[in-house]
Amino acid sequence: MKIITNQFELDSILSKYADSIIGFVPTMGALHEGHISLIIESKKRTDLTVCCIFVNPTQFTQQADFDKYPKKIEADILLLNEAACDILFLPTTEEIFPNGLLNLKNYDLGNLEYILEGEFRPGHFQGVCRVVDLLLQIVKPDILFLGEKDFQQCKVIQLMIETKQTNIQCSLITLPTIRGESGLAKSSRNLRLSPLALVKATALFKALKKISAKIKAGAISEISKNAKQEILNAGFEKVDYIAFANASSFQLLNEWDGKSSIVVLGAAYLDGIRLIDNIHIDVN
Ligand code: PAJ
Repeated sequence: MKIITNQFELDSILSKYADSIIGFVPTMGALHEGHISLIIESKKRTDLTVCCIFVNPTQFTQQADFDKYPKKIEADILLLNEAACDILFLPTTEEIFPNGLLNLKNYDLGNLEYILEGEFRPGHFQGVCRVVDLLLQIVKPDILFLGEKDFQQCKVIQLMIETKQTNIQCSLITLPTIRGESGLAKSSRNLRLSPLALVKATALFKALKKISAKIKAGAISEISKNAKQEILNAGFEKVDYIAFANASSFQLLNEWDGKSSIVVLGAAYLDGIRLIDNIHIDVN
């Protein structure tokens, strides 16, 4: 795997692959099986896989969260090498944001910007779009690979691409959430949890799973109240939301017709760490 820190070097390598299909996996590092599943899929579907590790300062709503974001670059490089990733792009903040972090581009994300993650992390999706837009312009991939662990993020980036708010027109492939044996979604933030908290953390997934087993057509808000209480009972200190959205339009739902595919999404704090998860409810 080639490790590249500046765009000029990346450009000169990518220019040799003009006729190849390029796959791109943007990450913030502290890699785990979830990230690697995206690399593996990109390796299957493309000729050249570029992974980026960059902890994007513009998508954090709290400085402390940014400062404490886990960094494990040596272990990350080992995992990427094992997965036979072709190129690792490791830019500095100056490389990505040469004019500083003020007066950056804004994107029209409609309601997606203000609901769920957008409501509890104001400005977060603007920051995500900025960095993904800039990275797409640098890497110019044919296919972008994202994980459904961050389901709303997938919808935001899909909107940015489809409405041509980025110059790069690439396909988007989203892949299912990779979980540990306990059901806990793999997440870089899990590294900040104590062994006991890692056990408690499974309550978020379990509550979503229980909803998916119990849900019936009709009013669905009551079911989320019970789930919130179960998560709190398990030791989480705060639940930001348990919500339902149409899997395709991402419209929030208080009622379910029992026919359309929906997603149950949750966000909650455990020992000061904010965890998110979601599961699909598909009807055949
Ligand atoms: P990060 O949290 O590092 O995630 C990078 C990619 O890995 C995202 O597409 C995310 O959805 C995916 N991912 C994370 N955990 C996963 C899991 N358990 N299973 C499957 N995929 C998983 O998401 C970001 O970084 C950033 O917002 C980024 C898009 C890189 C922009 O800065």
